[in-house]
Amino acid sequence: MKILVTGGAGFIGSAFVRMLVTQTGHRVVNLDKLTYAGNLENLTSVESSDRYRFVEGDICDARLVEALVAEEQPDAFVHFAAESHVDRSILSPEPVVKTNVFGTFTLLEAARKFKTPRFVHVSTDEVYGSLEAPREATEDYPLNASSPYSASKAGSDLLARSYFVTYKMPVLITRASNNYGPYQFPEKLIPLMIANALDGKRLPVYGDGLQVRDWLYVDDHCRGILAVLDQGRAGEIYNIGGNRSLPNLEVVKKVLALTGRPESLIESVTDRPGHDRRYALSSEKLTRETGWRPEMDFETGLARTIAWYQANSQWVERVCSGAYRDYYQRNYGHRTALR
Ligand code: NAD
Ligand code: TYD
Repeated sequence: MKILVTGGAGFIGSAFVRMLVTQTGHRVVNLDKLTYAGNLENLTSVESSDRYRFVEGDICDARLVEALVAEEQPDAFVHFAAESHVDRSILSPEPVVKTNVFGTFTLLEAARKFKTPRFVHVSTDEVYGSLEAPREATEDYPLNASSPYSASKAGSDLLARSYFVTYKMPVLITRASNNYGPYQFPEKLIPLMIANALDGKRLPVYGDGLQVRDWLYVDDHCRGILAVLDQGRAGEIYNIGGNRSLPNLEVVKKVLALTGRPESLIESVTDRPGHDRRYALSSEKLTRETGWRPEMDFETGLARTIAWYQANSQWVERVCSGAYRDYYQRNYGHRTALR
């Protein structure tokens, strides 16, 4: 197959592109705008493959998207491109709504026009909002997004589904839990805590740190998406979870233990507005239909991730230069220590 991947220079998209090029015979066209989160360094291991092509461009640019689809005639879209961070969506919602909603619309329109045989839309468990324990969202659970990020993902998720219902387009939707692993931009919890711990800096934990997330190793997520691409039923939604729920404070303490840093580095700071308390989902449907299940256990995955950040300190230094420092100041500068 020839697969048009969007956002393939980001964290999960680049893991998916590396997996496609090295472990399958598929051809890959990667369309990415190279925002602060897109980094071609993530793809050096595959850039010289004759089954890989990179195109720099914005998914909101209908003319560019149409021309690319007309030229390449892909067999499938796998759509990762997004503004993917809740805190940034709180600071500046506009690019989040544009890319996540309008960009998805642009891609769906191109796929409709050129009758692309498959369209996988990569969504998130955040569309379900916060769930009381011990409840787990199945795919029919109501959408109840809280942040501009998750609301924009819920919007694009519903839009993607509408193209199946209305136009009978072969759309499939995946909703995954929190990913972690190598190459993740140090704005999300785990890479930010690793980068700060390795640097001897304070670890800013929002509020009481008892918010719960389900952790999924990035390669397990990519295998889940591949299973949906290959075996999923058109029009269906598939949850992809790591089956490992943990409160943030426990995750942060594990990072400190594995990096040999003291817990006194933890700083409890002003909470995120609208902070969802708990995400939880069941991936039983994907397992039942495709045999997929998460393989990486959290402690091994976390140790492997930390080892990657230690071995790739120059990657961290480069992505944490100028613009990152401005973001850090905007997001954390006004937060006060709670104790
Ligand atoms: P990321 O922020 O690391 O990467 C996003 C990529 O999209 C970057 O390469 C960026 O340059 C590109 N991009 C952004 N705007 C674009 C535009 N207008 N046109 C073209 N390219 C653009 O994100 P990620 O963490 O790899 O997430 C990928 C997808 O997976 C997103 O759709 C996200 O909502 C979803 N998801 C992420 C998680 C997670 O834990 N990170 C969990 C579930 C679902
Ligand atoms: P994050 O990685 O931003 O993912 P999401 O908000 O999409 O789940 O955050 C994961 C959890 O960690 C979330 O409950 C917010 C919390 N968090 C902190 O406590 N401190 C931080 O500096 C960050 C980035 C996140």
